Amino acid sequence: MTSALSPETARRLDAVSRALRKQWGLRTESDEVWGHHSHVVPVRTDEGIPAVLKVAAEDQETEHEALALQHWGGRGAVRLLRADPRRRAVLLERLERRDLSEEWDVRACEEVAGLYRLLHVPAPPQLLPLTAYVGRFVDPLAGLPRDAPLPRRMVEQCLAHLRDLVADDASTGTMVHGDLHYENVLADRTGEWVAIDPHAMSGDPHWEPAPLLWNRLDEARGDLRRTVRVRFETVVDAAGLDEDRARAWAVVRLVLNAFRAVRSDGSDPAYVTRMLTVLKAVQS
Ligand SMILES: Nc1ncnc2c1ncn2[C@@H]1O[C@H](COP(=O)(O)OP(=O)(O)O)[C@@H](O)[C@H]1O
Ligand SMILES: [Mg+2]
Repeated sequence: MTSALSPETARRLDAVSRALRKQWGLRTESDEVWGHHSHVVPVRTDEGIPAVLKVAAEDQETEHEALALQHWGGRGAVRLLRADPRRRAVLLERLERRDLSEEWDVRACEEVAGLYRLLHVPAPPQLLPLTAYVGRFVDPLAGLPRDAPLPRRMVEQCLAHLRDLVADDASTGTMVHGDLHYENVLADRTGEWVAIDPHAMSGDPHWEPAPLLWNRLDEARGDLRRTVRVRFETVVDAAGLDEDRARAWAVVRLVLNAFRAVRSDGSDPAYVTRMLTVLKAVQS
């Protein structure tokens, strides 16, 4: 897998990983580094238990990975064996290298909806409130120049939802995974699907479905609109979510993804187009 990390960050995470393997008495099983936004290597503990050591880059999303996994205690998520939160490092039970991309996407959405029931527990107080996470985008988004490559109508729609959702008490209080898509659900040794790679916040279960819509679109080819709609309906029904609220959060997340891409240097126009296409599909 190609890495999204800069060579500098990759080197730094590699050094942290080596130091921790020594400190924790872990045996490295392969030179191959797994992970796209992080450094993941297969290891064995001094007791011979197969594990992986993950060291993540220091962004806001990865801040509470250890806390969230510890809180779930292996229910619906990978088991945490050890952690060094200061260094963004977690030692995890080794899972199979088989993820939900290999299931039919509709079946995969049902599996993920089943995981919500285990993962959506009351949030521990240390987690960032979802309203604070999204609230800081309101002003910059409202100030986006009118000639930016993001239709104003979509920006206004996102802002209207954001203002309602940020003011709503139901938008916080539940621990959400935040990035629960096909590649972040792996099979454990018993064949059960479990979540990895949480971007945990104190949020709202309706925040959760959107990554199922914008990931894995290569296979949608001709009928993207239908693919997105079927996935959305499947996950909303299977999880018993409120359809309008899940749609509102999906609109917010898709526009914010596009906004962040537009705002960053080297933005990828194809990515922005994809977000806007999914947005239209989920609203059609
Ligand atoms: N517990 C685990 N067991 C086996 N493989 C894992 C485990 N955790 C992560 N991986 C592998 O490493 C990849 C990256 O891990 P992940 O936590 O998703 O980080 P990121 O997506 O931020 O790079 C996963 O897609 C998977 O292939
Ligand atoms: Mg991942």
